[in-house]
Amino acid sequence: MPAVAMPVDDGTEARPRTPQLERLSRHVRSLAKRRNAVILAHIYQRLEIQEVADFIGDSLNLSREAARTKADVIVFCGVHFMAETAKLLSPNKLVLLPDMKAGCGMADMITGDQARAFRAQYPGRPLVSYVNTYAEVKAESDICCTSTNAATVVRSLPDEEILFAPDMYLGGWVQKRLPDKKIIAWKGYCPTHFVIQPSMVDARKAQHPGALVLAHPECSPEVLELADYVGSTQGIMDYAGGSQAKEFIILTEAGLLLRLKALHPHKHFYSIAPCPHCPYMKFVELEKVAAALENDLNPIEIPTAIMARARTSIQRMMDVSGAVNPAD
Ligand code: 13P
Ligand code: SF4
Repeated sequence: MPAVAMPVDDGTEARPRTPQLERLSRHVRSLAKRRNAVILAHIYQRLEIQEVADFIGDSLNLSREAARTKADVIVFCGVHFMAETAKLLSPNKLVLLPDMKAGCGMADMITGDQARAFRAQYPGRPLVSYVNTYAEVKAESDICCTSTNAATVVRSLPDEEILFAPDMYLGGWVQKRLPDKKIIAWKGYCPTHFVIQPSMVDARKAQHPGALVLAHPECSPEVLELADYVGSTQGIMDYAGGSQAKEFIILTEAGLLLRLKALHPHKHFYSIAPCPHCPYMKFVELEKVAAALENDLNPIEIPTAIMARARTSIQRMMDVSGAVNPAD
């Protein structure tokens, strides 16, 4: 059967490089220097944000960077739960999120009260929460994890039965890797990855039969089944960079595709159609980064009642993930 014609949408719609954009980028860099601020950007951020950042990474590496920075101010170009994690790890620093609307559809799927009720339903089981949760959920958790270290974190617990929230797909992927554990997963998911269907992957594979398929574990199990490699955003970056292959189908958000294309111009990266975009990540714009730095806009505050408990679950993850198994 001939390959189905698909509209080309590879996430390449980067903002045009105008003189105004260049001026704004220089302005942001000089503000950051004047304020002794570090700009941290997640890999899903717009390309022009990635280009002004001091550090670009996945959520684990951004947390590490937030914990170790000597800067006075952290401008977090990502989403709210990531900025909160930075504040938990560096409570004495000013952490700014350029737009408070940069939330997360998955983090919205569980509240602190629901996390408490989940625990009450399964007494005696530890709760592992994905960092894609708000601080009030972290405060109810025994330990956090990211997509990089989820299997390492779960393996580190002596218990056989483990509660996992909120991502049922990441929980399912960990379950597959750790058959000796029983993962009881909350029924949350990422709306951005949820739209990726096996038929979309098949259609792209028909167009590029030699391409390797690299997927984020927030995709459904049916999609992960089709992948040659499953890993966090940084894992996908490292795999694509280190591989001898020249063509890749990338099953995650558009920002990662832009970054791969910028770093490896001689390789070919394809998305599925339509290319998934996280609307929350895209709330962060360069003008808002400048405004945050000029006026200390949107400082992250964590209520004292939950600060210590939320910090403990993040700190436990940081301690365990020093020993991340690269195969995880
Ligand atoms: P990473 O931890 O892989 O960066 O993922 C964060 C995220 O929100 C993916 O949707
Ligand atoms: Fe949240 Fe999904 Fe966006 Fe990641 S991609 S920030 S999980 S909505």
